Amino acid sequence: MRATTAPKTYRVKSFGCQMNVYDGERMAELLSQQGIAPAPEGAEADLVVLNTCHIREKAVDKVYSDIGRLRREDGTAPLIAVAGCVAQAEGEEIMARAPTVSMVVGPQAYHRLPAMIAEAAAGRRAVDTDMPAETKFDALPARRKVGPGAFLTVQEGCDKFCTYCVVPHTRGAEISRPFADVAAEAQRLVEAGAKELTLIGQNVNAWTGKDANGRAAGLDGLIRHLAELPGLTRIRYTTSHPNDMTEELIAAHGEIEKLMPFLHLPVQSGSDRVLRAMNRSHTTSSYLRTLDRVRAVRPDIALSGDFIVGFPGETEDEFRETLALVEAVGYAQCFSFKYSPRPGTPAATMDGQIAPQEMDERLQRLQAALQRSSLAFNLASVGKRCTVMVERKGKLPGQWLGKSPWLQSVHFEGAAGLGDLVEVELTQGGPNSLHAVMV
Ligand code: SAH
Ligand code: SF4
Ligand code: F3S
Repeated sequence: MRATTAPKTYRVKSFGCQMNVYDGERMAELLSQQGIAPAPEGAEADLVVLNTCHIREKAVDKVYSDIGRLRREDGTAPLIAVAGCVAQAEGEEIMARAPTVSMVVGPQAYHRLPAMIAEAAAGRRAVDTDMPAETKFDALPARRKVGPGAFLTVQEGCDKFCTYCVVPHTRGAEISRPFADVAAEAQRLVEAGAKELTLIGQNVNAWTGKDANGRAAGLDGLIRHLAELPGLTRIRYTTSHPNDMTEELIAAHGEIEKLMPFLHLPVQSGSDRVLRAMNRSHTTSSYLRTLDRVRAVRPDIALSGDFIVGFPGETEDEFRETLALVEAVGYAQCFSFKYSPRPGTPAATMDGQIAPQEMDERLQRLQAALQRSSLAFNLASVGKRCTVMVERKGKLPGQWLGKSPWLQSVHFEGAAGLGDLVEVELTQGGPNSLHAVMV
């Protein structure tokens, strides 16, 4: 049975990328501003927002099983809103398939949630997948309370149309938030307690704008400006596209101390034929040249990437080119995925779809290679001194967990607090984390 009462409590569950994490936080702030309270840990919420991801098939299946699980034993359900990229992609289809859902709202329209909740409480279901001209950012409440590390969306959408990917369809065309808006939100985040800002976007390094003097600026200019904020100690950005790594942004890595030595630069495959079929518009050699240029100005840069195995037509030899690329780069960490055919994308109907067992086998081999690479990177850090930003308590008493400049997870014991920047010496490393002692 679909709920039709005004909600007093809410819970937002976000899936997918950092963009969704950010949107989820903004939705929570919006709901709190409406006088709806976050549901206490473990308690049922009157309103549940599922902030969904459409990137791979499994992510979509999860949405429907989550909706099913929200049904209570007596047959009732909370008020349910489906937001995020599945909402954008499936819209009305969700309404038809899931009768307990009251609201479907896309990633560019969630500032309209309060009006939709009022409608839903009156028994009317609503779908809003507009990509309106007015921007949600102007309609959202100011940011108030954040942890030591905060995300800040500066760019949204994608014009690149990789043949496997739904993002250009679910998030729309590339847009950059204005310089002044980003600067103002950054300032508020720092006032609200953030010490580290991660600038985020589907192609964050495609960000462009005009600075306070009306001069054209790229992401490097924005970072230079934010680096002047007192109280802000670390800046990161993600996700970047190889073709948008400008000379100026590369140079910034050698010049701006607050810009952390970490670069997530997805390549997807080590085979130029596969990259062409993916419409990636870069080659393995242009990618490697970019990494060399970054290393020239910042020799200790930690590199990360995304990989897809089993793209239609990928041969064993082409897959081995991916393994060879992994060996050549020496990544600090990576994400790797089995190709998932997405409805409406060109790759979904290409010849040569790879059998699931073949994909499993390739993914295992790739992940083994990536694990070796991360382990080697972490072992090479042992003995180094660095600052760790404390993010949470560790599992053991007196233990803390934080991030090194190279985005490694670091455990240590001692007198510290959340958000502290602690000097440590790295003493021991595994593939996923390191141990350290305070110095
Ligand atoms: N804009 C970013 C990536 C955003 S999506 C970039 O191009 O670098 C995050 C990652 O999901 C991609 O890098 C890719 O590795 C993976 N991905 C996207 N579509 C996929 C699909 N259909 N199947 C499997 N993995 C996919
Ligand atoms: Fe998807 Fe390609 Fe755009 Fe990244 S660049 S979001 S993979 S279409
Ligand atoms: Fe998923 Fe949408 Fe992000 S599809 S990866 S939540 S942009």
